Amino acid sequence: MQACSFDKRALDYEKYAKIQHVVAKELLNILDVSFKNNCVNILELGAGSGIFTTLLKQNFNCNILTCVDLAYNFIKLNQEVNKVQGDILHLPFKNNIFDTVVSSSTFQWIEDIKRLLEEVDRVGTTRCQLGFNVFLKGTFSEMGEVNKLTGFGKVLDMKTIDYYLTNCYECNFDVTYYYEREYILWYDNVLEFLKQHKSTGATVRADKNIGKKRLFSFIDYYTKMFSMDNKIPVTYKIGYFIGNKRRGA
Ligand SMILES: C[S@@+](CC[C@H](N)C(=O)[O-])C[C@H]1O[C@@H](n2cnc3c(N)ncnc32)[C@H](O)[C@@H]1O
Repeated sequence: MQACSFDKRALDYEKYAKIQHVVAKELLNILDVSFKNNCVNILELGAGSGIFTTLLKQNFNCNILTCVDLAYNFIKLNQEVNKVQGDILHLPFKNNIFDTVVSSSTFQWIEDIKRLLEEVDRVGTTRCQLGFNVFLKGTFSEMGEVNKLTGFGKVLDMKTIDYYLTNCYECNFDVTYYYEREYILWYDNVLEFLKQHKSTGATVRADKNIGKKRLFSFIDYYTKMFSMDNKIPVTYKIGYFIGNKRRGA
């Protein structure tokens, strides 16, 4: 797993996780069309404090829902009774149990996506359905550009839509529906964005020795290069994927 700091940020997460709320709703809408009448035993990967879990429970008739997350402080806040603190790369379940596996805003944190999909394949039933969204390359494009100029900050190494399509295919899943969508959120200023982003815990640990001079330079460049009408944009690229275990596999 790439270094991140979710555990420390559990209490603030939901307040500042604007984009995660937006993409969770969109994932739910897609699942609504594809999965609704065919979910008995659902597994949610990287469920965290439950932004997506709550939507799922309100809108789906989930007979059994099981949530897994690595961060103890996050999973503690999740209202689902059936929850496990654990690594989704080593799922603590027997083979062939879940007919549906879902996940929102989590897969970009997983370096070994093959290992994860193999685990999903293992715990999923023969025709297991898989639905997830993931942050893609191009997310934080503004921050990436300004980082290069100023040496401040670090952006998570995110992947392309093709990377997930290839890995799904190679790990026994046929993706039947997918698309990439861009969102731009506007913040009052760069510092406000950095504070809110840090409060979600979804940050990559940067070098501690980066001084204030670089921070000020980062703010200055970001503002000059991208601000419009006294607001600064932050770009997110999100991939949505729906699939199922390959028949006869
Ligand atoms: C951005 S949060 C998303 C949480 C939730 N799904 C949501 O929509 O708000 C990413 C979550 O993935 C979890 N996570 C990252 N790597 C994990 C791993 N290897 N095993 C289990 N959970 C993991 C983190 O602890 C965190 O709660």
